Amino acid sequence: MKEFKRYLVTSALPYANGPVHIGHLAGVYIPSDIFVRYLRLRGRDVISVCGSDEHGVPITIKARREGVSPQDIVDKYHAIIKSSFERLGMSFDIYSRTTSPTHAVTASEFFRTLYDKGEFVEQTSMQYYDPEAKTFLADRYITGTCPHCQNERAYGDQCEKCGSTLNPTDLINPRSAISGSAPELRETTHWYLPLDKHEEFLRRWILEGHKEWKPNVYGQCKSWLDLGLQPRAVSRDLDWGIPVPVEGAEGKVLYVWFDAPIGYISATKDLTPDWEKYWKSEDTKMVHFIGKDNIVFHCIVFPAMLRAHGGYILPDNVPANEFLNLEGDKISTSRNWAVWLHEYLDEFPGKEDVLRYVLCANAPESKDNDFTWKDFQARNNNELVAVLGNFVNRALVLTRKYYDGAVPAAGPLAEADREMLAEVPRIKAALEENIENYRFREALKEAMNIARLGNKYLADTEPWKTVKSDPERVKTILNVALQLTASLAVAIEPFMPFTAAKLVKMLGIEKPEWDRMGCSDLMPEGHRIGSPELLFEKIEDEVIEAQLRKLAETKAANAAAEVSQHAEPQKAEVSFEEFDKMDVRVATVVAAEKVAKTKKLLRLTVDTGIDTREIVSGIAEHYTPEELVGRRVLVLVNLAPRTLRGIESRGMILMAQDASGKLSLVAPEAPVPAGSKIG
Ligand code: 2FM
Ligand code: ZN
Repeated sequence: MKEFKRYLVTSALPYANGPVHIGHLAGVYIPSDIFVRYLRLRGRDVISVCGSDEHGVPITIKARREGVSPQDIVDKYHAIIKSSFERLGMSFDIYSRTTSPTHAVTASEFFRTLYDKGEFVEQTSMQYYDPEAKTFLADRYITGTCPHCQNERAYGDQCEKCGSTLNPTDLINPRSAISGSAPELRETTHWYLPLDKHEEFLRRWILEGHKEWKPNVYGQCKSWLDLGLQPRAVSRDLDWGIPVPVEGAEGKVLYVWFDAPIGYISATKDLTPDWEKYWKSEDTKMVHFIGKDNIVFHCIVFPAMLRAHGGYILPDNVPANEFLNLEGDKISTSRNWAVWLHEYLDEFPGKEDVLRYVLCANAPESKDNDFTWKDFQARNNNELVAVLGNFVNRALVLTRKYYDGAVPAAGPLAEADREMLAEVPRIKAALEENIENYRFREALKEAMNIARLGNKYLADTEPWKTVKSDPERVKTILNVALQLTASLAVAIEPFMPFTAAKLVKMLGIEKPEWDRMGCSDLMPEGHRIGSPELLFEKIEDEVIEAQLRKLAETKAANAAAEVSQHAEPQKAEVSFEEFDKMDVRVATVVAAEKVAKTKKLLRLTVDTGIDTREIVSGIAEHYTPEELVGRRVLVLVNLAPRTLRGIESRGMILMAQDASGKLSLVAPEAPVPAGSKIG
């Protein structure tokens, strides 16, 4: 295995068009932070770079929708994302942004180098143009009917209903999302990176050279390569982005997926004047942490760009997780189906590590996984409180109680002590093996094993009982337990940095170095520990129920929005005279009963203020007779009588009907008397 001198760790730049949610965290940021914290603990030369991805069409769409500028949008979300990452303890060495001046220069120069080297091909094609808005339309700006599933709201690049990848010209009845008008096809010229030219190299480099990549990453690369690579456009007709640095390219900007990964380079430049050491030396191990929807860009397109440029290293690994769902449904920004990081931090102060723990313990490392609030609660209560917190608390409280907080000297070790102590170096090796191979769930389990085994050790040796019969033995037991707590403080640091810091403080020691984990003198004899505090607290049912209610409200709001989007088209126009012929009155239901042998019909007796009459109404599936008696309703009283099931029905009760067919009564807001006119 190659020995590297330093590490460059990048985390996918989140789009600054919305806040970060738990799906982003579980997929990219928690794993990357565990990795870099671990490397730092081991004393490695490592830098971790990230920043906001501030170009691209979704940002311009959001800006248009909100009536503000794209810069306003990215300023707002960059600030939210940056501060929520900090609050969660993300330890980036720099969190930059792609609207920075350094990035504009870096991305521009990168493009220009490829252009001057003849690494692009220029191609003219027909693309949709909005004649009203006078602009070419990027894929996301065109909507229309999906040819596969007839979804009327498919985008020019994808149908979110059936998941098909589309070209704008595949859409039936295309519409511009800007003006709503029908777009027309016009000629436009763009620069393309001929990926086909790099295919042979990529095939060897990935398929032969990186068989160790995670199966999902390797598999996706193989499918792309097996299909054969095509040239990909690296510019767009758009007014938001980095201008194409070529004469005659007015109105054209770099495609966001061309400029975003260069953002890793710009961020490194802003971090250190020594940036080239990290990007251009074969002694550097570069690792890109990404979400699975970013695989092709980081494994195929960006490496092809770096190679075409020359002088840059390629990534050693590109760990990508699968997706995290929320309560059984796909996380979705547009449907607000997410747990937003900034909201979590506000609603669960001091519980940053609980989220970090749950998202790692349940990370979608090899398959999509589900986040549920019940699981969150169970992991907190049964694992963090009952295992980790409990072990540390018992060791510290007993030390305070028996020895006034001074670490007791260990006497001769019994078999149980030796076995317990021998577990720590084994766990340390397993942690290293798992973290270095990007298996963070397994690694976290190993770190927790120190506490799990520690609890078992205390339960087996029962110092609280032995203290009466053999006080000398208890000194050894608590010495061993305290050494374990100190090892624990190092082992959990990459995963739960806040808890590790608290623990180190409670133990009254400096944070031990990684390699000292498992040593039997981490807590020297006579050293005084600080005062024990609870590391975690139980999360009660009410807290979880409040979160579930919040999600239920989101679901209801989405359902209502869906219904309103499906409103039937307006009926043919009527004149005022025609409308005025209808006599609608407030009435009171005085009696109601089911119409025999029917499922839907109720026979209502209503006081219309004019008279008391019978109306047969098809609402039996929506209201019981008892619910209706005494209710105020609206009645079209001059509707021609009809006989239904032998009953003469004189009028119609007015109801609202949603897209699912559900009926609900319509009534005046104030208690106006029966007979009042509507109009
Ligand atoms: O998928 C995303 O959220 C992209 N903004 C990731 C970009 S990663 C890198 F290339 F910048
Ligand atoms: Zn579809």
